[in-house]
Order: sequence, then structure tokens, then C-alpha cells
Amino acid sequence: MAASEAFPFCKTGGLGDAVGALAQVFSRAEGSEVVLFLPRYRNIGGGAFSLKAVGGSFLIPVGDRLETAAMHHVQWGKVSVYFIENSKYFDRPGIYRANFGDYEDNDERFIFFSRAVLEGAKFIGFKPDVIHTHDWQTGLVSAYLKTLYKIDSFFSKTAVVFTINNIAYQGMFPRETLLKAGFSWLDFTPDKLEFYSGVNYMKAGIVFSDIITTVSPTYAGELQFKPEFGKGLEGVLRSRNQDIFGILNGMDDEIWDPAGDSFIERGYDQNSFAKGKAACKQALQHECGLQESKDTLLAGVVSRLDRQKGLDVLYNVLPEFTDKIQFAVLGAGDPGLSEAYANMAHARPKEVFFRTGFHESLAHRIYAASDIFLMPSRFEPCGLSQMIAMRYGALPVVTRTGGLKDTVSYTDEPKESNGFAIDFADEAALKSILGHAVSLYAWKENWNTMVRNAMKCDFSWTRSSQEYLKLFNIAHQKKQL
Ligand code: ADP
Ligand code: GLC
Repeated sequence: MAASEAFPFCKTGGLGDAVGALAQVFSRAEGSEVVLFLPRYRNIGGGAFSLKAVGGSFLIPVGDRLETAAMHHVQWGKVSVYFIENSKYFDRPGIYRANFGDYEDNDERFIFFSRAVLEGAKFIGFKPDVIHTHDWQTGLVSAYLKTLYKIDSFFSKTAVVFTINNIAYQGMFPRETLLKAGFSWLDFTPDKLEFYSGVNYMKAGIVFSDIITTVSPTYAGELQFKPEFGKGLEGVLRSRNQDIFGILNGMDDEIWDPAGDSFIERGYDQNSFAKGKAACKQALQHECGLQESKDTLLAGVVSRLDRQKGLDVLYNVLPEFTDKIQFAVLGAGDPGLSEAYANMAHARPKEVFFRTGFHESLAHRIYAASDIFLMPSRFEPCGLSQMIAMRYGALPVVTRTGGLKDTVSYTDEPKESNGFAIDFADEAALKSILGHAVSLYAWKENWNTMVRNAMKCDFSWTRSSQEYLKLFNIAHQKKQL
């Protein structure tokens, strides 16, 4: 596996969760051996994991220079993790960006990483049957295998399965990037690397991989057949229609377990959620300076602040509800939205709490304390937050898109519902569904039925990982022909 994030080592969102969890479940499958390559960002190492230097180094061409790659290793259960080092590229404050936007040399950083994955595998003598890559940051791995490494016998039987976690980020760079990556102009064609006169790493992953997956069945369809979802790549995706599969992500039910969660005030399960949640709610209200009221509906948000998530829509709707709902919002990203939420929380400290930055333990406390969890996304490839929220008995309020549609059911019948859903992230629909949640909350029997339905859902990785393993076998067999 090769990716730019994997929890618990580095994470900016669900990609990290998904890669970390998959690496672990794959490693437990019979007959498998999993090696995971990650960049060695600043702050990796130390803490619970002691990294060991692999010793030696190898060179990676980037443009007309040769960059040095070294590696550190950690054995993480049955997963062998290799961190690829180059301090110029990775020893920085952020993973993809500093405060003022994406790093300008992200093209080079992930050229270096993608090629170092292949060279790294050779360096340790690990000949993979399948390389599983994720998103634009590793899209070039398959492009290299099908071009520059085509004649390399080390990889002659290696297949690539590429997973699209989010097509909104494509890694688009100017045409000069082609030369930095070492590809030939012959590959700069619309059926290969060229995309509107530039190079698109996501497209490279789609075009050159043996099998493509994405993270929910609904998103797999949206990507190909709805241009606003495919973001310019819908045609390319349709041309690979036979090789595209939607596999719903799972969630790590050991990390996210309300019964054994050491970050929260009081553990609970399906039978004890009423008392447990009440204690967690009171503790969070206290921690966040919200009015300590057990009967007020508490709405949680734990999210990247990005247009994708529809939190600008929520922001406009929120003032109408502060007399009926308390809001606890944890979000990092868009500085404008962050400031707007901070001002709102400042103006109404008893009803609205806002914290920016990435806070793992606070995220746990918000999931545990909330009665509803807001995720009015404009699009959502899979979404893990709504699954976590359900596990913690916080009913998700979502739009019917991508993985949200595949996980949340909302009908007129509480018996058949495990959350609330609207068709689009628009203000009128959000207002109406929040109004409905407020009135239903007073009707405890129905509410509790829905909470139980939500907590009962099985989002474990077991089912998804089996689907992946089947595809790995198919991809691998294709290569043996
Ligand atoms: P995405 O990958 O689009 O950000 P997901 O719902 O798939 O959305 O995954 C989000 C993950 O990141 C969840 O584990 C969520 O709890 C976590 N998360 C998002 N923002 C924060 C934050 N500010 N602090 C802590 N955890 C966060
Ligand atoms: C992306 C998507 C999210 C998905 C996650 C993991 O970040 O935005 O919907 O859950 O990847 O696949």
C-alpha cells in the first residue's frame, strides 16, 4: 500500500482513517503480507512508535536533479511500515499546505514519493503482487509502472488497484511537471497524462491502474454520470466503466467504541446510552461553556471546513435555531468560515461552541455528547463521520449523496430510520429537517428507536476488506496472463 496518510501516523481526514484501517485488516487476511509506504512528515516518530533506520539510501530523479531517499521502518502489528524520508520535501509544518495554501512544489513532492515507493520496494526486496494506491498523491505510481518501469522485470507481475477517496482533489499541475516526473512527451496525450494542457495525477491513477475503486457504490455512479461530481474526469472514468467498483468504507470499531472510549465522560452501549449520553453531554456542555441543559438538543460537527461539507449552508441556518439547539463545532480548514464560526460562538457562547484545529480527543467527546450530528455535504465520497456518529448514538443529519446515501436511512417510520436526510445542501431543506429533529426529540420513544437503529449498524471493515481482496486477486490474475 502507498498513500499520503494513514492513521495513527498522519491524518488530515477520512483518507488517513481508511488507509490505516485497511492496512491492518488486509494484514490479517490469510496468506497476505502488507507493506505500507508513507512519507516521513515532521513529527512522525517518537510517541508510541519507535522508528528504526533502514540504513543506506537510494536516488530518485526529479527533473534534472537526483534526490536522496532514505527510509525508517516500524513494525505495526503485522503491517510493515516504511517511511520515505527527504527532509527538503517532507520535514515541514503541514502535510499538503502551510497556512497560505498548498505547497508550490506538491508536484515534485509526490513525484518523489511515488517513484520512491517503487524504488523502496526494490530496495527492501519486496516484490508485491498488488500495489494499492490512494488518490492523486499516489496516482503516478501506476503511470510509472506502465511507462518507465514497464521493462523492469521486478514489477512484471505487479498489478495496481487505485482507490479514489475524493476526486475533488486531483493534483493538477502545469505541463512542465511532465518533465520533472521523467515521462516522455509521447505520454502527454488526452488518453494518458494530458488534462487541459497540464498534468493531472488523479487522471494518471485512473488511466494506468488495473482496477479502480471508489469508496461507496453511490459515489461510483455519481462520478461517472454526473459532471458536477466527476469534476472533469467523468469521461475518463466512463471509459473505464468495466473496471470501476464502489466499495463502502468501514470504520475502525476499536478506535470508535463508546463502550471502551477513554476520552469520554462515561462509556455506554445500546442498552445504556440514555445515561451514558446524558453524562457525556453534561461534561461537554461544561467543557465548552454551553448552557448545562439536559433537554436541549445538542448538535455536533467534526469536520474539515471545506465547501464540500456544506457548513456554509449550516452557518446561515444556525441563528434561527439557537433557542432550540446547541451547537458544538470542531472544524479546521477554510479561514473565512473558521472566523465566521468563531465570531458566532463569541456572540452566543451559551448556545454555540466553536474550536478550530485538529483535536482527536475533543472529536470523541463531541460524537459522544451529541444528539444529532450535522453533515449537510454537497458531495461525500463515503464519509466516516456519520458512521462514527451513529456508533455513538448521535443521529446524523445528512444529504442524500455518496456514502451518506448508502449509510443513512430516513423515512416517515422511525423504525426504519437511523438518521435524517435531505436531497440537497440548501437552506430551506436544512431548516425543515432541523425543525423536524427538534420536534421528534421531544418524542423520546421514537427518538430512542432511531438511536438504537443507528448504534446497531455494522460498519466494520470486514465486509469491505473482503471485497477488496477479491479485486486484488482479479487484478493479480490479470497480470499473470
Ligand atoms: P473527510 O475525509 O472528507 O474529511 P470523513 O467523514 O471521511 O471526511 O472523515 C473525517 C475524519 O476526520 C473523521 O475521523 C473525523 O472525526 C476526523 N476529523 C475531521 N476534522 C477533524 C478535526 N478538526 N479534529 C479532529 N478530527 C477531525
Ligand atoms: C475523503 C472523502 C470522504 C471519505 C474519505 C475516506 O476524504 O471526502 O468522504 O470518507 O476520503 O475514503
